[in-house]
Amino acid sequence: MGDEVTRYQEDVHTPTEVADPTAFPPRVVKSYPGAPRHPLPWPPERAGHRLGRLLADLGGITRAQWLTPLDMLPFTDGFDAIPDDDPLQWLVTRRPTPSGGARYSAEWYVIAGDDSEVPTGVHYYDPARHDLVRLRAGDYRSHVASRPAATVLVQTNVFWRLAAKYGEMHYRLACLEAGIQVAQALVVADEQQATARLCFPDADLAELLGLDPREEGVHAVVELLPPPPPAVRGPSMAAFPRAHGAHAAVLARSRPGPEPLPTSPAGDGKRIDLPLAAPDLRAGTLTRHAAVRGFNGDPMSPAALATVLTAYGQQARWDLPDNLVEFHCVVADVTGIPSGAYRYHPDEHQLEPVAEGDPRQRLREAALAALTQQGARTANLWLLPVGDAEAAEARFGARWYRVQQAAAGAALHRACLAAASIGVASRIQNDVLTHLLDEWFGLHGRKRSLLMAQFGTEHPAGLRPEFRLTW
Ligand SMILES: Cc1cc2nc3c(=O)[nH]c(=O)nc-3n(C[C@H](O)[C@H](O)[C@H](O)COP(=O)(O)O)c2cc1C
Repeated sequence: MGDEVTRYQEDVHTPTEVADPTAFPPRVVKSYPGAPRHPLPWPPERAGHRLGRLLADLGGITRAQWLTPLDMLPFTDGFDAIPDDDPLQWLVTRRPTPSGGARYSAEWYVIAGDDSEVPTGVHYYDPARHDLVRLRAGDYRSHVASRPAATVLVQTNVFWRLAAKYGEMHYRLACLEAGIQVAQALVVADEQQATARLCFPDADLAELLGLDPREEGVHAVVELLPPPPPAVRGPSMAAFPRAHGAHAAVLARSRPGPEPLPTSPAGDGKRIDLPLAAPDLRAGTLTRHAAVRGFNGDPMSPAALATVLTAYGQQARWDLPDNLVEFHCVVADVTGIPSGAYRYHPDEHQLEPVAEGDPRQRLREAALAALTQQGARTANLWLLPVGDAEAAEARFGARWYRVQQAAAGAALHRACLAAASIGVASRIQNDVLTHLLDEWFGLHGRKRSLLMAQFGTEHPAGLRPEFRLTW
């Protein structure tokens, strides 16, 4: 166990006390007084402006929710802890992506070229005004891109927004949320053939964006291609299916994946085949939200389970190996699937049992907050991506922690999008004693579960008035 990163992972399990919360300003977006601004059309989805819509779908202020102080009950588990000097109701703004404590540390920057629909240059996306602030004029794409991209997006995290609430644990959340941001980008920019990199020259990018890297970390780069012009095609090849099959088989292997990490030996448990599923993650971006009152305990169908798991284990178009995390889960009251702990194998689309015992009891013991406890009683599926620190550190050096957390965040966000697309409610939750579940799963060495998300039928008391601001 060598370096700072490893010590951080070993030491920081829960939020740490913030010595002086008043030292942090209230949650605000960044501002650049005097810098030129380029407005983006509103509403973003109507304007036919691809970049504007993409930015709104990534980091825009796209939702508003009416909440009351009593909505804190599931978190406080008692009226006493609810401050009575708060207004009776709050209008809170929300983004397309989840964020720990809704602190929204993520930011997006645009490195624009000639075909980006905005002036060439380096811009900051201001979510509050839905416009771009120009930080530099000129074409900087070649400084950032690994291929001839039309536009490059750079994702960062402003650390203090999370640190003001979670102390030392802010770094962990920032790394998880980077993965969530990238997963969202790959879904909403799919038609622009988006690819992402989590390994890049960090210091150079921070300098290009004018950031102090101690305060705002660059976490990911997303490269977009312009759509090719439509071509006049020849006759259909549908009459020659055998030749097509042979050709397609080669294409399927034309992009060798990154060198895989060592895999763990297969368990003895008999695996369960799942029904085939084709999740529509884009559809899920329209309705995804974190369930605020948990679930109602109805059973889940195997088709719903298969849809969520397919998205969970999907390989992202990025520079990380597909087995940087293992896809563990806990199942309860899914029709036809014995309740218990499993590892999902994406390639085979199978569940491998890893532990026996009453899952609801195990989860109750591990759940910290009242809302998580409620989910332990009533959700049907808990996803817990597992990372092997040993293998990742050997492969990525000091970057191992960051990329592994990102892979976990991305896997859970994909699963939440798939769930939303079929009307299954979800909530990512960090307040779980994961080491208790790790013992139950039989994890050894430096393998740990990294984050948890719960899934089920939304509790009837859970839906809150929510206004979509963009559609
Ligand atoms: C990394 C991460 C950790 C989270 N941890 C918790 C948690 O411990 N407890 C909880 O109730 N919600 C947790 N959430 C959910 C957020 O509170 C929720 O996403 C946020 O309030 C915004 O709401 P939305 O997801 O509906 O947009 C977490 C979300 C993320 C992304």
